[in-house]
Amino acid sequence: MTEVVSEKADMQVKDPIISVRSLTKVYKGETKPAVDAISFDIAEGEVYGLLGPNGAGKTTTINMLTTRLSSTEGQAFVAGHDINKHSMNIRKIIGVVPQDMTADEDLSGLENLILVSQFYDIPKKIAMERAEKLLEMVDLTEAARKQVREYSGGMRKRLELIIGLINEPKVLFLDEPTLGLDVQTRAVMWDYIKTLRKDFNMTIILTSHYLEEIDALADMVSIVDHGKIIITGSPAELKASLKGDIVTLGFQKDQDAEQLRSYQGVLEVLPSLPGTLKIRLENADSELPALMNYVFEKGITLKTLSVQKPSLDEVFLRYTGRCLREEAPADRFKTMINMRRMRRT
Ligand SMILES: Nc1ncnc2c1ncn2[C@@H]1O[C@H](COP(=O)(O)OP(=O)(O)OP(=O)(O)O)[C@@H](O)[C@H]1O
Ligand SMILES: [Mg+2]
Repeated sequence: MTEVVSEKADMQVKDPIISVRSLTKVYKGETKPAVDAISFDIAEGEVYGLLGPNGAGKTTTINMLTTRLSSTEGQAFVAGHDINKHSMNIRKIIGVVPQDMTADEDLSGLENLILVSQFYDIPKKIAMERAEKLLEMVDLTEAARKQVREYSGGMRKRLELIIGLINEPKVLFLDEPTLGLDVQTRAVMWDYIKTLRKDFNMTIILTSHYLEEIDALADMVSIVDHGKIIITGSPAELKASLKGDIVTLGFQKDQDAEQLRSYQGVLEVLPSLPGTLKIRLENADSELPALMNYVFEKGITLKTLSVQKPSLDEVFLRYTGRCLREEAPADRFKTMINMRRMRRT
């Protein structure tokens, strides 16, 4: 069952710009749903994250909401338009930056932008003005007239982002906008996304494997796994729902760990290495002094001590029983580019 830690999510958003109810996709020939009766609302101007491992159903969800893929059951509305009935209305007002590269490598960045502007019937003069501004925004002015095949991975992703912006969308869908990018380039992409939200009040729906990305950007997040929403809330609410800080103690003598397992303030004992004890305390800041006094009274000598505040990693582990990081793709970004090259030859 979907768990909701946010009061806001529980109460349902007033006048949501995106509203999803029991949306389901079973691919042809499959029996198991790729997306299994998911429901959520997105408020205007919000950055909404879908966080989950490979195969969780993030892209399938995005593809149904952007009307690229039909749904099997359920309903969804984007800016009041039904995805099953008014796909053309939706396509006009949304921007999509898909997980796979879409830019034509034989064209320049500028030519790609103008080509896409023609699908939206944007007059050439306006398209040129917008394209130049967008290229400047993502620092691609110098490379604007170079063939995309000469672009680095980061340059391609920046171009894909602005291709999604050429029609000045009300709602932007970003499917894994920083997958495979290095840390610096990822930070640059985050800044662009923050700017779009702040300066243009754009509603953004973002999928990611990266917990830190969701933490940095999203106002609300749904954790998805095996096609279902496991939990929804703001990153802060999700972290707060874990109730407690993790304290790891390392001991001079292995057997001393045993003495502290039953200490009164311990909410939970977590698996840890021999000679260490990992415990959850409700609030390490206020409870550690008493714990230290207890340690000294018992004549225990500590080798190490560390305190860990809850992170989204832990939220994922708590609600799915698995670690998200272990499932992150090695370098799918490169694979995607290579596949694209192969297709062209
Ligand atoms: N065209 C298709 N036909 C059949 N099954 C599909 C198809 N596309 C995706 N699937 C399956 O649906 C499930 C959800 O896939 P989806 O691509 O939506 O996940 P995802 O969360 O976006 O994963 P990733 O993080 O790898 O991008 C997976 O089990 C996948 O194998
Ligand atoms: Mg995907």
